Amino acid sequence: MSFRHLVSGALVVAPMTKGSNLPFRRLCVELGARVLVSEMAVARRLKQRRGSEFALLRRAPDEPCFGVQLAGNKPEEMAWAAALAQSRGADFVDVNLGCPIDHFTRMGLGAALGRQPSKVRRIVETMKAAVTVAVTVKIRLGWKADQLNYLELARAAVEGGADGVFVHGRTREARYRYPANWDAIAEVAAALPVPVIGNGDLLFPHEVHERLASSGCAALMTARGALIKPWLFRELTSGYWNITAEERLEIYRRYTALALEHWGDDEHGRTRAREFLRWHAGFWCRYVPQRAAGHWPSMQVREVLDHPRSALEALLSRSDEAALEYVTDELLNTGDLSAPPPVSAVVTDSRTDRGRRTEEDEPVEAG
Ligand SMILES: Cc1cc2nc3c(=O)[nH]c(=O)nc-3n(C[C@H](O)[C@H](O)[C@H](O)COP(=O)(O)O)c2cc1C
Repeated sequence: MSFRHLVSGALVVAPMTKGSNLPFRRLCVELGARVLVSEMAVARRLKQRRGSEFALLRRAPDEPCFGVQLAGNKPEEMAWAAALAQSRGADFVDVNLGCPIDHFTRMGLGAALGRQPSKVRRIVETMKAAVTVAVTVKIRLGWKADQLNYLELARAAVEGGADGVFVHGRTREARYRYPANWDAIAEVAAALPVPVIGNGDLLFPHEVHERLASSGCAALMTARGALIKPWLFRELTSGYWNITAEERLEIYRRYTALALEHWGDDEHGRTRAREFLRWHAGFWCRYVPQRAAGHWPSMQVREVLDHPRSALEALLSRSDEAALEYVTDELLNTGDLSAPPPVSAVVTDSRTDRGRRTEEDEPVEAG
């Protein structure tokens, strides 16, 4: 099946270090996602046969379409890693050209590689020769605002044989400071003969429908949207879900069960599951429903839930350490959240004293 066919019209679960782990992708599949991408795997580490890196290539049994994202800047190494990913069940392999983290960019990976279009062309060419599945790239708009190179980079990847291009509509320097530039994404979609998948700030179903209709993209991708509200995928077929706190808790319980199934329900597995649950809880608490006045919360502004509909909803909106630890522990123990810790003395959440917080204030770890 062609890559266009695989992704057409989908909202793809983005590659996310720590975030798009196997049990989380299974949760998204259960909620309606049909195209999903792994956490970033580093080709060099795969070559070194590191077990933890190999684990990132694992496909869930129920995953309809699974892409593996690779980071690397050596054509042969990337080709070898792509063949490995294909042999382990990947439906496509993606090259990371956007990771902003210094540790990786200093090695010439991620966004640093995105500054070298001709090298990207060679890498894609070599990977294409090594696999039969589709090869894609995931780019940003450029290194910084006065160094935009998205058209040149996307075209180089396509010349190398790329079957699709994911575009995160921000620069490396901007991180999450500004809203994604969907005009630039549309420009890439109009310029390329291959499917372009647009990415940035999608949180509610109407946003997905509007961007799909207006950008010319073949499909879209969401990262933080999936972390904050994994039920976004269900909303795409059934419309906005004014979800209750109990319904959310059911989803979090299901993630807990999938995590324990994956990492194991023994001491070691529970420690690992706990680490991931606690991390995810830091995104779950950011969910805010549509305002009574009809206003839609934006991904770019950390909005406070003013009028929780129940004690449970109030608890789930808390981002202080004590609440997040409590939610995590109880999900792993009884699943009952009826005795939350008091708010007052333990509040460490800057939202309460600084009002609205933006993405800029607390950059997430992001590739
Ligand atoms: C926690 C986290 C981890 C991420 N890890 C990766 C990664 O490994 N590879 C990658 O290409 N992008 C990574 N990203 C970037 C996302 O894939 C996406 O491009 C970006 O968050 C913009 O989408 P959004 O506005 O829907 O969040 C990560 C993002 C987040 C929030």
